[in-house]
Amino acid sequence: MSDEKTRSGCPFTGGTSGGDDLPPAGERLTYNSYLKVPQLLELQNFESSPPAHDELLFIIIHQAYELWFKLILFELDQVAEEMDNGEVYEAWRLLQRVLQIEKLLVQQIHVLETMTPSDFLKFRQALNPASGFQSIQFREVEFLTGIRDTSVMRHIDQTDQDHRRLNARLAEPSLRTRFYQLLQREGFDVAIPEEGEVLEGERREQTMAALEPLYREPKERFHLYTLAESLVEHDQNILLWRFHHVRVVERLIGTKPGTGGSSGVEYLSSTLKKRAYPILWEVRGQLYDDGMYGMK
Ligand code: HEM
Repeated sequence: MSDEKTRSGCPFTGGTSGGDDLPPAGERLTYNSYLKVPQLLELQNFESSPPAHDELLFIIIHQAYELWFKLILFELDQVAEEMDNGEVYEAWRLLQRVLQIEKLLVQQIHVLETMTPSDFLKFRQALNPASGFQSIQFREVEFLTGIRDTSVMRHIDQTDQDHRRLNARLAEPSLRTRFYQLLQREGFDVAIPEEGEVLEGERREQTMAALEPLYREPKERFHLYTLAESLVEHDQNILLWRFHHVRVVERLIGTKPGTGGSSGVEYLSSTLKKRAYPILWEVRGQLYDDGMYGMK
C-alpha cells in the first residue's frame, strides 16, 4: 500500500483526518473502493423471470459460501506448508481460524429455511442444471483435506481452469498425508496411506498401535495431539455441514431429484460416511479403560 494511502491510518476513515495533503475525493482509498463494494453488489443476477423474491437470498448465500471457501483454501494451504516445515503451532493456529469459519458455515445453511418449499419452486427450474455439486472450491477443500472420491469429477461440467485446479489438488499431498509424514518425522511408526486409501490389515494395526500413546497420554506430546484433534474437528465440521445441508434440502425439496442430476436427499445421505481421517476417529475406541466404570 502506498504512503499516501496509509498516512491517515485506518483506510476506512477516508477524509476525516482533515489533512491538506490527501488526494482529492474519488482518488482516496475508501471502504467502498478498497473492498470493491460497488462491483460486489453488481454480481447478483436473477435467472428467474419475472424475478422471484427469494432468489436473491439463494444467490447471496451461495456466493458467501464461495468467498469463505476461498479463505478456507488459502488458510489450509498455509497449514499444509507449516506441517511440512514442522511448525506445529502455526499449523494449529491457522486451523483454529478454519474451524471457526466452518462453524459459521454449518449454521449459515439454515437461513435457507426461511424460504418455503413453494417459494423455492418459483425459481428452482430456472437454475437447472446448475447445482452445488459443481462447486469447484468445495471439491478442492475435500481433496486438500484428504477426501479423494474422484468419482465426483464426472458430474462437474469443468472449464479448462476448473480442470487444472482440481488436478493440481489431486497431484499434491493432502493434509492427511502431510500429517502422517509429520508423525513419522516425530518418531511415530505410522504407515502412510495412499491418497484415498483406507488402511487395512497389518498397516492399520501398526498405525493404530503407533497412535495409541498419543491419545492415551495427550499431555506428553500435546502439540501433536492438539493438531490431530483439530484435524478431526475439521473432518467433523465437514460432516456436520453435510448433515445440516441434507436436512435443509429435505425440508425444501423432499424426495425430488437434484438439479445436478442426482437422486437428491438419498445421494446426499450417502455422503455422510465420508471421512478424511478414519484412523484418528477410531483410535480412541482402542484405548483400554482403567476400570473406573461404576465408580461411586
Ligand atoms: C435450497 C437450498 C439447496 C438445495 C435444495 C440444495 C440441493 C442439493 C442437492 C439435491 C444436491 C445433490 C446434487 C444434485 O443432484 O444437485 C446438492 C449438492 C451440493 N450442494 Fe446443495 N442445495 C442447497 C443449498 C446449498 C448451499 C447454500 C450450498 C453452499 C455452497 C450447497 C452446496 C452443495 C454442495 C457442495 C453439494 C455437493 C455435495 C456432495 O456431493 O458431497 N448447497 N445440493
